[in-house]
Amino acid sequence: MLDTTETCLEVHNLTVEFPNRHGILTALNDISLEIRPGEILGMVGESGAGKSMTGLAIQGLLEHPGRIAGGEVRLAGRRIDALSDQEMEKIRGREIGAIFQDPLTSLNPLFTVGSQLVETIRQHMPDKSRSAARERAIGLLKEVGIPAPAERVDHYPHQFSGGMRQRVVIALALAAEPRLIIADEPTTALDVSIQAQITGLLRRLCKEHGTAVMLVTHDMGVIAETADRVAVMYAGRLIEIGLVDTVLKNPAHPYTKGLMASIPALGARVEHLHQIDGAMPRLNAIPQGCAFNPRCPMAGPRCRRDRPTLVPTGTGAAACWLHDGGTE
Ligand SMILES: Nc1ncnc2c1ncn2[C@@H]1O[C@H](COP(=O)(O)OP(=O)(O)O)[C@@H](O)[C@H]1O
Ligand code: SF4
Ligand SMILES: [Mg+2]
Repeated sequence: MLDTTETCLEVHNLTVEFPNRHGILTALNDISLEIRPGEILGMVGESGAGKSMTGLAIQGLLEHPGRIAGGEVRLAGRRIDALSDQEMEKIRGREIGAIFQDPLTSLNPLFTVGSQLVETIRQHMPDKSRSAARERAIGLLKEVGIPAPAERVDHYPHQFSGGMRQRVVIALALAAEPRLIIADEPTTALDVSIQAQITGLLRRLCKEHGTAVMLVTHDMGVIAETADRVAVMYAGRLIEIGLVDTVLKNPAHPYTKGLMASIPALGARVEHLHQIDGAMPRLNAIPQGCAFNPRCPMAGPRCRRDRPTLVPTGTGAAACWLHDGGTE
């Protein structure tokens, strides 16, 4: 069943820690966001920002010894961050679908795509007969744009191209009509010409099915084409969030401006382009104050001293002293 409440996913003050020999690494720090049914939230930031970690924490897939150390995750109002592994397993697939960068993460090379779809459908919809599940599998393949689906249903993953395989994975993620799909770099491994087809498909299906989508990508171009809202991450924190149109036209955070400048077509829209030099800090060496301050062309003394928190900026929010009393 599709969600009929206002929000599908709610994340409140999520903090993820990895204890190790030297102490505790805080991989995610106080992340709050929500996604409504039929809405696509893009999560963007350079490699290591914490995008995938956010998706994994929501799905209960943190690698040991990683743990949720604070905050909560709700799906259609139900708290899911403290469920047992067994309960979480039921939620994955049934209520949260996953799409990863490499389609072969989700597909077993030894089975036809049809048998994998049928198995998933029957696991989550046990009253469906095998033949009804097969009909549904063919319908799903058709819906995701696989030509001759009644034939292709009996083919093995290696008989599909990369783009077609990712379509099959989207069909698999949709098989149980989940409320939420978490897609982590779903087009990064594909040719540029195929990328737009896949993101277009994801967007259309999300709107038609009323599925909420968390779209993780390092590529601001993918966000611009696909997402409704965007959440920008840096060093394990959310540093800007807002409507895609607003953020692209008028990014509030200097880091967001820098990310956009890396895409020529988008960069042209920004008045003052800032090339971002340097690299994201490691989790054990996050600078005092604003984590972005060593790379920020606008940094002032306050930025090196105090850490900014998210404050409203028109339709969105940004964590930057420029929007909260100045940098001096
Ligand atoms: N198993 C782990 N143990 C400790 N730190 C980890 C682990 N997995 C990822 N990290 C760290 O968490 C941070 C966020 O990683 P990730 O969410 O994968 O980034 P990305 O934004 O590129 O998806 C990185 O600094 C990474 O080094
Ligand atoms: S708080 Fe300061 S250092 Fe951080 S992004 Fe804003 S201006 Fe730059
Ligand atoms: Mg990642």
